[in-house]
Amino acid sequence: MIKLAIFASGSGSNAENIALHFKDSSEIEVSIIISNKKDAYVLERAQKLNIPAYTYNKKEFDESDQIIALLKEKKIDFIILAGFLLKISPKLINAYPNRIINIHPALLPKFGGKGMYGDFVHKAVVEAKESESGITIHYVNENYDEGAIIFQSKCEITGQDTFSDVANKVHKLEYEHFPKIIAEILKKYSEKFGD
Ligand code: GAR
Repeated sequence: MIKLAIFASGSGSNAENIALHFKDSSEIEVSIIISNKKDAYVLERAQKLNIPAYTYNKKEFDESDQIIALLKEKKIDFIILAGFLLKISPKLINAYPNRIINIHPALLPKFGGKGMYGDFVHKAVVEAKESESGITIHYVNENYDEGAIIFQSKCEITGQDTFSDVANKVHKLEYEHFPKIIAEILKKYSEKFGD
């Protein structure tokens, strides 16, 4: 069984979608959900899904020792960032090299970097009068949104679209593709390293 930890800071609709996708899988399990916000709605979703959830503050994320200890104790193989807004510490990246995957709600390298998350991204895309946006799934390295790109998918933007229209289109792409791409990455990983 490949075990996943999902990190999420907000609503957690992607976290829930991923957890539901793998609910009956005999190969992949969402074992834990970790947040940096005590009042994040993702924690309620975790409870409903019966997935143990943990919260750490920014300092604990920066130091990472407690979090790495938990991940090791739970035998976590991969970390999935689904709307997680803190920077991942070098220690955590070293503990999970090429095993941390993020989704970004735009077509990187455009509209990435510090402060570019959630609706800020969609507002910037509309302001720039882009004719398309989309999603980027990528490995996480020590710089925001700069790790190797695994997958991108695009949606069209019309001149009438508001930022929330763009957000809806992008969310749709996220729900459709993120669980499947995670499954593909993990399949390759288990073919290479066994279970
Ligand atoms: C998602 O659109 C995700 O791509 C984005 O936050 C949203 C979280 O929604 N992530 C970033 O902006 C990371 N830079 P959710 O909490 O409903 O899954």
